[in-house]
Amino acid sequence: MTALAQFSVAALDLDAIATAAGRVVVIVTPDGKLGQPARRINRVTKGALARFLESDGFEALKEGEAKDLAYPTGMEADAVQVVKLSNQASTALCRKAGAAIGAALGKADALVLPGSLKRVEELSLGIALKHYSFTDHKTLDEEVTVPAVTLAVTKPESVDLSTVTALAEGVFFTRDLVAEPANVLTTTEFAKRLVELESLGLKVEVFEEDRLAELGMNLLLSVGQGSVTPTKMVVMSWSEGGDEAPIALVGKGVVFDTGGISLKPGAGMEDMTMDMGGAGTVSGVMKSLALRNAPVNVVGLVGLVENMPDGQATRPGDVVKSMKGDTVEIINTDAEGRLVLADVLWYAQETFAPRAMVNLATLTGACVVALGHENAGVFSNDDAFCNGFLKAAETEGEGAWRLPLGAGYDALIKSDVADMKNVGPRWGGAITAAQFLKRFVKDDVPWMHLDIAGVASVSSPTTLAPKGATGWGVLALNRMIDEMNAEMKKEG
Ligand code: BES
Ligand code: MN
Ligand code: ZN
Repeated sequence: MTALAQFSVAALDLDAIATAAGRVVVIVTPDGKLGQPARRINRVTKGALARFLESDGFEALKEGEAKDLAYPTGMEADAVQVVKLSNQASTALCRKAGAAIGAALGKADALVLPGSLKRVEELSLGIALKHYSFTDHKTLDEEVTVPAVTLAVTKPESVDLSTVTALAEGVFFTRDLVAEPANVLTTTEFAKRLVELESLGLKVEVFEEDRLAELGMNLLLSVGQGSVTPTKMVVMSWSEGGDEAPIALVGKGVVFDTGGISLKPGAGMEDMTMDMGGAGTVSGVMKSLALRNAPVNVVGLVGLVENMPDGQATRPGDVVKSMKGDTVEIINTDAEGRLVLADVLWYAQETFAPRAMVNLATLTGACVVALGHENAGVFSNDDAFCNGFLKAAETEGEGAWRLPLGAGYDALIKSDVADMKNVGPRWGGAITAAQFLKRFVKDDVPWMHLDIAGVASVSSPTTLAPKGATGWGVLALNRMIDEMNAEMKKEG
């Protein structure tokens, strides 16, 4: 488990600046005017800070960027990091600046001097999110040290980091799950980590194969038939919102996707350890909701399964009956995510009659072809619901782009022997996958499908994450849930 940096808020003590060990971080506005903490740094360094602020180096920094002044004379710190940021900077810029601080932190403690900056919480979220590295399986690393980050401000009581840490803990939970290899994160281990969330007040129920068979969840079961790790569904409930119908979040949790009998090519197959990213995001959101004690009703459901080739595995051409009752001809066993989701979506609607439903899945390579790693694909049957999410995602800096649904695409998954087949032709693959899911969504349920194949794990750093697992969606969904809740309360 990856730990957040240890955050604390303290009253600004100017005399502590010269004696602070580790890193001292000072926010300087773009006009280069020295605030109170900066003046002190400048004095003890005999003017070094002012010289930097008058240099081309400071001029060249964009807002939200930073520069280290190493081993400053007159200070015990190893570095003074100068961050260029205006006091009224936007959420996005504050997070970007925080990310510059978090990226440079390493194992060192930091004394952060925000001066008159308004959005200290957003700065802190940036620090927390960018300071992530998954080292659980590195035996050569020295003992993991958790740096202490102290935010020294004039009015400590005006800074509350509890929401920030609740969100960041959720994102870290998602990232750790996504980063974990499949021999460690089996379905059993995944379920165990979710049951541990009960200590936060979530209700967590694990459905084993016999229960799933009784429920008729044969599509979900068909995906795991070739694996020795048992198929499971885990249902997490957070019910602090009174007697309103819940919002349902449904995640694809394929702990490893070999493609099954329709085996994937070997090159790059190791990336399919992240094929549980949808379930990972759902789990991270649930953890954040509990940690920040959100006054909402949300139920998170994940289908946990491994797609392996084996004598017992599903064959291309097999016909399987879904929980809904519709039959599916499985043309390609590598189009397994939609099979997992179909039954879990149906179970969610039958059991919880949700007022809205979102599913998340690393569903198609076609979505990555369309949108790359910048945006998740968004599909929805409800414009208002969808627009609410797109706005939340934009605010959080999580790329999301709507793609169409339509009867013409739906016709492409017609089967000769069953009610539908699980793949269409090559072109428009992200859309036919969404059309498949839509067949398992009741008409009166506002629904959104997020194809996160391109954004759940990336090979180069993003603004708020190092390369690897991003935790995409945890922030946007938390925001969307809050906004839907506020909207509902307003309507009474
Ligand atoms: N898990 C994959 C999709 C995927 C691809 C996720 C790349 C992340 C990165 C999914 O199960 C899959 O194999 N989809 C197939 C569908 C096809 C057989 C219709 C694909 O996209 O090729
Ligand atoms: Mn697949
Ligand atoms: Zn898959």
